[in-house]
Amino acid sequence: MRWKLLLTILVAFALGGSLAFILRPAGMSDSTGEAQIGGPFSLVDQTGKAVTQQDYAGRYLLVMFGFTHCPDVCPTALQVMAGTLDALGAKADKVAPLFITVDPGRDTPEIMQGYVSAFHPKIQGLTGSEEQIAAVTRAYRVFARRVDDAGSPDGYTMDHSAFIYLMDPSGRYVMHFRHNASPDEIASRIAPLL
Ligand code: NI
Repeated sequence: MRWKLLLTILVAFALGGSLAFILRPAGMSDSTGEAQIGGPFSLVDQTGKAVTQQDYAGRYLLVMFGFTHCPDVCPTALQVMAGTLDALGAKADKVAPLFITVDPGRDTPEIMQGYVSAFHPKIQGLTGSEEQIAAVTRAYRVFARRVDDAGSPDGYTMDHSAFIYLMDPSGRYVMHFRHNASPDEIASRIAPLL
C-alpha cells in the first residue's frame, strides 16, 4: 500500500528530526562546557594587592574555591594542595596555587593571609568585591550559595562546589581533581606537564 510507505517515510523523518534536535544541543554543550571553564579575573590577594591572571603568567594555576569558615571540605582541599606542592618539589615553582573565596564579605585579605599561610607558604588567598567574586565563580562555573545556619559563625555557611582546577599557562582548563584526591596522585598527573 502506498500510504503505508508514505507514513513510514514521514515517521522516519520525524524521528530523524527529533534525534538531531536532541543530540545536537547535548553534543554542543559538552564540547564547549569544558573549554569555557576559567578566564581572565580581577581580584585582591592576601596582601591587599590587586591582581589579575597576568600576575601568574607563565605558570600553571591550581585553583580552588572555598571560604575560611568552611568546617572540613576547604581545609581538606588546602591540605591536598599543600601536599601536592611538596610532592612536586622544585617543579612546584611552575605552579601558582590559588585559593579564591566565595565569601568575600568575611574573607578580607587579612583573614585570607592568616588562613592560607597555615597550610602552605606558596598558596595565594584571593578575595575581592562581591562583583569580582561573582565574575570569577561564573567563569569557573563554580556553584556557591549562602545558606542560613544557626549553628555556624554569623548564622550562615556557604554551600559550594569543591573541585581543584588545573589551568595551563595560557589560562586554559586542563583537568580537575576532587578536593580529597591524593596529593601524590595529583602530582603524578601534573609533573609530566611541567
Ligand atoms: Ni569549603
